[in-house]
Amino acid sequence: PILLHLLFQSPDKMAVNVVDAEYLKQLEKSRRDLRALISSRNCAPIMLRLAWHDAGTYDEKKKSGGPNGSIRFKDELNRPHNKGLEKAVAFCEEVKAKHPRVSYADLYQLAGVVAVEVTGGPTIPFTPGRNDAETADEGDLPDANQGASHLRTLFSRMGLSDKDIVALSGGHTLGRAHKERSDFEGPWTRDPLKFDNSYFVELLNGETPELLQLKTDKALLGDPKFEPYVKMYAKDEDVFFRDYAFSHKKLSELGCNLP
Ligand code: HEM
Repeated sequence: PILLHLLFQSPDKMAVNVVDAEYLKQLEKSRRDLRALISSRNCAPIMLRLAWHDAGTYDEKKKSGGPNGSIRFKDELNRPHNKGLEKAVAFCEEVKAKHPRVSYADLYQLAGVVAVEVTGGPTIPFTPGRNDAETADEGDLPDANQGASHLRTLFSRMGLSDKDIVALSGGHTLGRAHKERSDFEGPWTRDPLKFDNSYFVELLNGETPELLQLKTDKALLGDPKFEPYVKMYAKDEDVFFRDYAFSHKKLSELGCNLP
């Protein structure tokens, strides 16, 4: 079985990750360290964005990219859409130094899960065992200046659905845009360190000078497939939390063949 495993993971690009008792112990310690680090530095938003950008390169047809730790490589990290994420990579490096068995791929996804948890969001079940890529990934991430059809093209390349698009866009309940990183500025919600359904409430309320709405956020309104989910999530936070947890787990495991 190990031979088969190697075959499917293209051994030239992947270090095979073996999850044993010692690994699980280091993973649990990493989770605790991440909780403390994220709380003390208020860095939940950038950690969630790191997890999303490491995973969001996935190409379902080519079976390439995905949550494989490749964002640690300068080639990938220095791309314009990853501006600012070097901070999150450096934070994770502190945890990696203490628990070196844990793969970068697992560590970045664990950071995303913990970021959602410590800001009051849903508990996302975490399965370890992701392999680390040894080179940068290729796949593009969504362009904030585009509309619904672009979102569908990009997310369906990853193997994600209309419902996943809307639920995951709710990640913008956390954090803000920074002029020097993306040329956009400001938070999507009034409490950007609390994970709740306010992203959808604000989206339905329409534009205000204090809050940001990207073209890709506004594209969720007026689209016959997207809009019903926006309304449902604005009305019922429990439904949002349930769907978000499901879609986030899916995103965090793209192409990983985890048990
Ligand atoms: C921030 C675009 C989806 C989580 C941002 C920023 C942009 C952006 C332009 C501002 C970056 C900066 O200036 O610092 C998009 C587009 C998406 C998308 C076009 C397509 C739907 C997602 C998803 C998640 C996510 C799926 C997570 C599930 C975040 C978070 C921040 C952020 C947490 C705040 C980071 C911080 O405060 O430093 N996004 N995003 N985004 N994004 Fe997205």
